[in-house]
Amino acid sequence: MSESPITGYGDDLTVFGTRIGDLSPEEHENIEKEHGGFNYKPLENVVVSHVQDSSTLICRKPSQNNVEKYIEEELLDGLCCYSAVNQGQLNKTIVDAVVAHLTKEKLPTVPRSIRHKYMSAFLLTISNFTGMDRVIPKVAGVEAPDLMFKIARRWGYNVKKIEKNKAIIVGATGNFHGRSMTAISLSDDPDSRKDFGPFLPGVELVPFNDIDALETLFVKKGDSIAAFMAEPIQGEAGVIVPNDDYWPKVRELCDKYNILLALDEVQTGYGRTGEHFAHQLYNITPDLMGCGKAAGGGILPISFVAGKDEVIKTLTPGSEGSTFGGYPLASVVGVYAVKTIIDQNLAQNARIRGAQLMQHYLELKEEFPDKIKEVRGKGLLTAFEMHHHEHLDGHKVSVELLKRGVYAKETHHSTVRIAPALTIEAWQIDDLAEAIRDVVSDL
Ligand SMILES: Cc1ncc(COP(=O)(O)O)c(C=O)c1O
Repeated sequence: MSESPITGYGDDLTVFGTRIGDLSPEEHENIEKEHGGFNYKPLENVVVSHVQDSSTLICRKPSQNNVEKYIEEELLDGLCCYSAVNQGQLNKTIVDAVVAHLTKEKLPTVPRSIRHKYMSAFLLTISNFTGMDRVIPKVAGVEAPDLMFKIARRWGYNVKKIEKNKAIIVGATGNFHGRSMTAISLSDDPDSRKDFGPFLPGVELVPFNDIDALETLFVKKGDSIAAFMAEPIQGEAGVIVPNDDYWPKVRELCDKYNILLALDEVQTGYGRTGEHFAHQLYNITPDLMGCGKAAGGGILPISFVAGKDEVIKTLTPGSEGSTFGGYPLASVVGVYAVKTIIDQNLAQNARIRGAQLMQHYLELKEEFPDKIKEVRGKGLLTAFEMHHHEHLDGHKVSVELLKRGVYAKETHHSTVRIAPALTIEAWQIDDLAEAIRDVVSDL
C-alpha cells in the first residue's frame, strides 16, 4: 500500500509533502494567498499555533535571524473568536465531556430522522437556560437569524394573517446578522452587499435606538410587519448600547401592533454582557431569540433559535432542517457550554472584569481626551472609539497591540472592540489596559 499523503498531528501534520511545523509566517500567508479566497485580510506576520491558558494563545512571528523559521510568543486574546469562546479556550469541563463522550460513551453521528438520547438533554438545557418553550438547533451563527426570519414570515401568514407574500421583517440600521443572502438583505453595509443582489424583498430598516422611527413605521405598515429583528446591543457596529428605555418601549410597541420581537443574541448571549442574555439587562422577553458562537463553547459551531410555543410551532416537518443541527456531539457540547456558563459564574465575572476594564477606559479617556472620543460597553462586550482623524486608526491600534502581545481588532476605522473570554483574570485585564494605553499614547 502506498504511503498516505496526509500523516501526523500538530507540527508533524504533513499534507501532500508539506510539514505544517516547517512553515514560516510568510509561507502560511503565501499558501492562503495562493489557495484561499480573498474574503478575509488577516493581521500580517502572525500565525496562531496553540493554547497556553484560557485567555492566552501561543503564536508564531517572523524570526529576525535566518536560522529559525519563526519565533513563538504569547498573545493575550482580547477577542476570543468574536465571543465564540466566552468559556475560555479549551475549557476543561467541555473538553473532558467531548473526550469522554467520544471515547467512552461512543457517540454516534445520526440525523434528525431518527431520535438520539442526547437531543433531550440539549432541548431541556436550552429551554431552561433561555426560558423559552421550544428550541430548534442549527450550526453556524448566521443560521439563527436566517431561521428567525423564516419563522417570523410563517407566523405572519399563519397566525397574524398577513396577506400572502406581503410580510415585512424590520431590521435596524448598522445591524450585523452574518453573511447569508438573508442577512445581507437586511444589512446596510455596502461592503457586504456589493454585487450580491437581487436581495430578499419584504425588508425595511429603521435607525437603531430610535423608538419614534420604529413607531412611525409600525403605524404606517404594522398590518404587514411580522417581526422586528435586531441585536440587543450592536456588536459589529462597534458595541452600540441603546438607551436604557429603548428595549422596554420596543417590547410595548411590538405587543401593541402584534409584531414579533426577534432578538439576535449570537454575539451578546452566554454571559457576554453580564447577564446570560443581553435582553435580561432590559427586563424584557423576546418572542424569538437566536444564539450561536459561545453556544458551542468555543469547540464546535452550534447555534439555535428558541422561542415561544405559538411562534415556533408554525414550523412543520419538511419546512426546516439541518443535518448537523443538534447531532449527538453538538448536543453534548451545547449542554456543557451552558453548564460552564452557569457553574463558573461567567456572567458575574463578565460584570466584574467588565467594570474593571471600563474603569481603565475612563482613565484613558481622561488622559487622552484629544484621542479618545467615547468608551462603551456592557459586561465584557466593550469598545473605545477614537476621534475621526487619519492618525487615530483602529487598524494601526490592532497592529501595535499585536506587537505588545495583545490580539484585538478594529470594527471601524476608529473603533476598537475588546471582548476577551469571560474567564479572564484581573491581572490580565490590567495587562490588556496597559498595552492599550501604551499604544494610544504613541498615536
Ligand atoms: C449578532 C450576530 N449575528 C450573527 C452572526 C453570524 O455568526 P457566524 O459568523 O457564526 O455565522 C454574528 C457574527 O459575528 C453576529 O455578531
